[in-house]
Amino acid sequence: MTPHNHAKEGDYAEAVLLPGDPLRAKWIAETFFDNPKLVNSVRNCLGYTGTWKGKLISVQASGMGQPSLSIYVHELINTYGAKTLIRVGTCGGLNAKVKVRDVILAQGASTDSAIVKGRFGAFNFAPIADFGLLRSAADKADAKGLKFHAGNMLSSDIFYHADGFAGYDKLPDHGVIGVEMEAAALYTLAARFGVRALTICTMTDCLITHEEIDADARQTSLKDMVELALDVAVDA
Ligand code: HPA
Repeated sequence: MTPHNHAKEGDYAEAVLLPGDPLRAKWIAETFFDNPKLVNSVRNCLGYTGTWKGKLISVQASGMGQPSLSIYVHELINTYGAKTLIRVGTCGGLNAKVKVRDVILAQGASTDSAIVKGRFGAFNFAPIADFGLLRSAADKADAKGLKFHAGNMLSSDIFYHADGFAGYDKLPDHGVIGVEMEAAALYTLAARFGVRALTICTMTDCLITHEEIDADARQTSLKDMVELALDVAVDA
């Protein structure tokens, strides 16, 4: 038990999928898991454990943004023994070559977040995905015929840039292909505690071309992405 999670030790599998949205956690458990069991509902930030292809697997909502994700991930690792953490989410596109519905494997995660920058003083730490998970996801996406891009994600603390994108416009020029709000903190915590992490996102809205996904395509794409993440998680 923790202040944010009333699950008992042993209630989570070693591999945990991390969507931001609690209702997506519920949908993943109810759609894909055999015998899903609700293990956490504190703040309605739902967590479930079940099986996928005969192997134990969990899903825990992370909430939005790096502070929220950091709480759940810290506790999953240090209280519940999680060893493989795979964020599944959506992201904005920062490169016209990335089309809506494409999958982005966040090989690295640049960030404006004090959560990451504050740890390292004068140094710029490069938060990176676990190579084994990244390779497995790329191989499995190829085998499934899923179009994916592996590259640098921006994990921003800011969704609404009311006063413009200070410095943000330089990132696409340096190869950053997508923007979301969690991967860098996930990778930094995984590095700190010696566990594996990967972020897999479906691109839903391109900030360059303003292309947006429609509701039907969103659901199919999410299904493909979650199946990919589940296959990577249980093989890890
Ligand atoms: N910004 C941040 N996070 C996101 C976006 C975005 O444009 N789209 C989906 N998640």
